[in-house]
Parts: sequence; C-alpha cells; structure tokens
Amino acid sequence: MCGIAGYVGPRKAVEVVYDQLKRLEYRGYDSAGIAFLEEGNISVLKRAGKLSVLGEVVDANPDDSHMAIAHSRWATHGAPTDLNAHPHMDQYEQIALIHNGIIENYLELKDELAHDGHDHQFFSETDTEVAAHIIGEEYATGVSLEVAVRQAVKRFRGAYSMVVISKREPGKIVAARSASPLVIGIGVGENMLASDIPALLPYTREMMILDDDQVAILTPEGITITDLNGKEVPYEIMHIDWDIAAAEKGGYDHFMLKEIHEQPEVMSRVLAGRIDEKGQVRLDNVYGEHVWNEIDRVSIIACGTSYNAGLMGKYLFEKLLRLPTDVYYASEFRYGDPILSSRSLCIFISQSGETADSLAALKLCKSQRMRTLGIVNVVGSSIARECDRTILTQAGPEISVASTKAYTAQVLSLIMLVLHIAQIKETPGVRSEQVVRSLRNLPGIAQRVFELEDQVKAVVQTCKDANLFFFLGRGADAYVSLEGALKMKEIAYVPTQEIPAGEMKHGPLALITDGVFAIFGATEEHLRDKVISNIKEVQARGGYVVAITTEEDTSLEKAADATLKIPRTGQTYLDALLSNIVLQLLAYYFAVARGCEIDQPRNLAKSVTVE
Ligand code: F6R
Repeated sequence: MCGIAGYVGPRKAVEVVYDQLKRLEYRGYDSAGIAFLEEGNISVLKRAGKLSVLGEVVDANPDDSHMAIAHSRWATHGAPTDLNAHPHMDQYEQIALIHNGIIENYLELKDELAHDGHDHQFFSETDTEVAAHIIGEEYATGVSLEVAVRQAVKRFRGAYSMVVISKREPGKIVAARSASPLVIGIGVGENMLASDIPALLPYTREMMILDDDQVAILTPEGITITDLNGKEVPYEIMHIDWDIAAAEKGGYDHFMLKEIHEQPEVMSRVLAGRIDEKGQVRLDNVYGEHVWNEIDRVSIIACGTSYNAGLMGKYLFEKLLRLPTDVYYASEFRYGDPILSSRSLCIFISQSGETADSLAALKLCKSQRMRTLGIVNVVGSSIARECDRTILTQAGPEISVASTKAYTAQVLSLIMLVLHIAQIKETPGVRSEQVVRSLRNLPGIAQRVFELEDQVKAVVQTCKDANLFFFLGRGADAYVSLEGALKMKEIAYVPTQEIPAGEMKHGPLALITDGVFAIFGATEEHLRDKVISNIKEVQARGGYVVAITTEEDTSLEKAADATLKIPRTGQTYLDALLSNIVLQLLAYYFAVARGCEIDQPRNLAKSVTVE
C-alpha cells in the first residue's frame, strides 16, 4: 500500500526520504514522488513506475534541502501516472501534501471549491489534490500551517494519514492521522515520520505512533502533538529494538524465501515463555476463567491469509474445544448481518494490524460491545490497540507481500489460545504431556522440512508449464490447501482451484484434463484411504498428482505421481502446519521458475489500508 516518509533536520533531506521510501518498497506501490524546499520554493519530483525511475530524476537534482516529504502511491483515485502521483500542491503553490488512505467526501469538497469564488485548477484525478486545495484555502486566511491542517481535516471524511510542508514555514512538517498509520521518529536535532517503522530504523529507534484525530508538528528541535482543537496532548515514546538485519534479505534471493526459512525460529518465539517447565500454558493478556466459561461461540474475522489462519482456528476450536466457530471475511462482515451475542468472542487476525476491512469490522463489534481479541503481528498497530485483548504473534517484520511466517505464527498462536482455554476449562486430552512434547520439539522438526527443498524443486521442473493447479485435501489439509492455493495465485499468477477433495465430484472434476496438476494434502492418517480414492478420480482423467504426506506413510507413495514426505510432529494440526511450509516452497520455486517478481507481486500490497 502507499508509503509516507518525511524528514526535517541537518541531513540531506531528499536523500533521507528517498532511502526511507526504499525501505517501504515492500508495501507495494505504482508511482512515487518527493517534495522539498529549494531556494524558498517547493520543488516536486514525481514519476509513475518503480522508485528507481524517480531515483534517476532525484539524482539529477542538487540535494541541499533540509526538509522533504516523500510518497509511494498505490492507485485508488486515478491511474498510476506522473500527474496522479503525490505530492500535490494547493492552488497558490504554497503547500505540498502527501496522503495515504481515502478522503471519502472529496467530490463533495471539490464541488464546494468550485463555488468558493477562487480559481481551482486540478491537474490530477486524485482526492489528494482536492485535499491540498482545501488546506490551501484555509492557509490562505493567514493562519499557521498546523491551524490550516486542523481546520481542513475537520472537513475530511474517511481513513487517511497526511503530511504537509509549506514554503512559508521552512523547517516545519505537519501531519494528521485518521485511521491510517503514521509513525513519528524522534532524533537529536532532527525529526522524521513514516507510514511504517522499518523506514525509520536506520535513523532513530525512539518513536511514537500518532493517534486518530491528532496533528503532529515536527521541527528539527522537537515535536508537538495536538488534538484537532489545537490542545497539546501528551504522548508516549517507544523504544523499537528490531534488528535492521531482520528487515533485510539475509543472503536469500528474496524476502519470501528468507521468511519461509525463518519459520522454525518464529515457532520458537511464539512458544517462548508460553509453556513453563511444568508444561503449563501461559498466555498473558487474554481473558480470565469466568469469561472463558461464559463464551459459547467464537467468530473469527480476517482477510486473505489471516482468514485462512482463521479457518485453522475454526478447526481447532471445534475439534478440540467443541466450541462452535464461524469464520468471516472482514470485507463481508460489516455488510452482512452477523449473528453475535453477549456470549460470543470476536477474534481479529491480522499481520499488519492495519487492514481497513478488519479494522472496520472491529469497530462494528466494539460498537455492539462485543468482546474482542486481536491476534496481531505489529505492536502498536490499530487493531492491536483497538482490541480489548491482544496476542502478539511474534513473527517479526514480514517484508514479502505474500504472507508466510505470519500465517504460521497466527495458527500457532491460535493453538496456544486453544490450549490455554482447555487448561482453564480442564477439557480432557487437549493439553496433554504428549501435546506439550510435540510443541517443544516443533521448531526442530520444522527445520527438517527444508531437507525437502530439492525434491520440491524437482516437482516444479515437472509442472513448470502447468496452467491450472488443484489444491486438495480433507480435514485440516483442506484448510491448508486454501492457503497453498492463495500463495500460488499471488506470486506465480497461475489459476488454482482449491476445494475439499470430497467435493471434486460435485463439479470441479470437470476441469481435470491432461496437463492439470493436483496437489493433495494427506497428513491426516485416518483420512488417507478417502484421499487415495480422490487421487484416483483425478488420475483417471489425466491429472498429475503430487501428494504431501508424513514420512512413515507408504500408501500415498503408491497412489500419487510424486510424494513429498514431511516429518511427523505427533499432532495432526501441527503436521498440517508443516505441510503448509511445503506448499509455500512449491509456490516460491514455481514462481521463480516462471520468472515472476516474488516479493512484490503485481496488483498486491502488503498492508491494505483502504476498503
Ligand atoms: C496474502 C496476504 C494477504 C493478507 C491480507 C490481510 O499473502 O498477505 O492476503 O493476509 O491482506 O492482511 P493482514 O493480515 O495484515 O490483516
């Protein structure tokens, strides 16, 4: 999604914000631009396409400015063109504005501008340029930049964050936020801001997160935070100790492969401190016993990969706790008529913690006084802060747009939650010694999955010309198949059909012809005979079958055309988690074989902060 960067201080400002934008490239974008103060005027450089295109223009300009803002855009209003790229200036060329999110009432505001008696000429189709003109009109009354911004944002409707500079007030950046992330970095004799923490890490580790309806004023000497009425509000500074190396590729060709390989370590982190020496599960910051005894239904709400993790949550809640569980797409939730009661628990799963659809669904639940629990990766993110309780998934920063380690951390966090509830409710057989042993051994066993990497590459050689993949399974494998298919679509751009294997005969079997590949998950022993029958259905129609099973199994080997065998964990739900790593590798190497751009797939963004 869009990236924001801003800097004021003694360094070469354009160089700093360009570097900050580069660190946000993983969020996905289609154009970029920079505004800076040059000889008393604002200069704007912007280009459609990759950041390197903007880089060429930036290099051709002298960089002696000490204040700059920069933006990478993911088109919402208007095509990704030079003109639609941010920054945008007001009608008097006094201010430059960059903006993430959407101003929902921009057409209404544009209409108001058309009748205000001033000459408003628009060069782009964006809501941002309209917002710049509104701020420009406020500023033209002679007030300070922060007052102009405060007055203007009171007129904006929507979820956005925005950053403004003025040629009249050099050395000052003003930012405002309404439901779209903005982080302020606090330095010594310099200050900066960005839409995401990694952009600021090389410059400072002291940060604060701007809240909704707050305005920040940055100068080299300090920052001031006010509400929309100009009243100064106190803020908390957080020390961020993320390792910068964790945000770099670490020797792998792509962030995605690095993140796939990080999963054993992520598992260790999720488990660390959560199983004590006596095998008791310890989850901080979740509800107490009386609440768990009261809850009789769980609603899981999320998008994309996080939704797929939610399906695994349903499997776990229903199978292990016998607690009825619904999983909703967040984008549908608030427009449907979800049945919730005071005894429901709403769980929100989100890697970024900023997904607009999930956040809106969360706000709806909160307005109905529902209990809300977040399973979130980003500390201080909107969903983490809005939920009553939050489990942090501890996956570390995920850079590749296609989510891998976050899914594993989400599912493992759900497993920990289920075990925690089972322990409180004394549900027999769920948190047994055997389960605790399996969990403790999990990171080491997961590491062994990578011994399959060469076999996965060999499978990819066989199927690299495929133009349709089936992802099939039964039980937990059926849920994992959905995630495997999503990865394949996202990074390799190949159509997939994902469906529980037993459903094939009710329609999708018609798609099987020569040259179609079917990836079967078959880690659940008691379902294998059924899976073998489904495999036969596919092969009889010319399909080629790759089966993922566990290492002691020999039946699938005989039935499938190729078999990938994962080590056993001792628990079926953990086996399924490992088989997902194989599916991630399969999608990754397949996309590499097809020459696809892995970390930033076309049309996709890391953090989807618009509806
Ligand atoms: C897929 C992927 C997306 C996200 C979805 C939700 O690889 O990353 O499907 O899972 O956009 O994002 P979060 O989890 O940040 O709410």
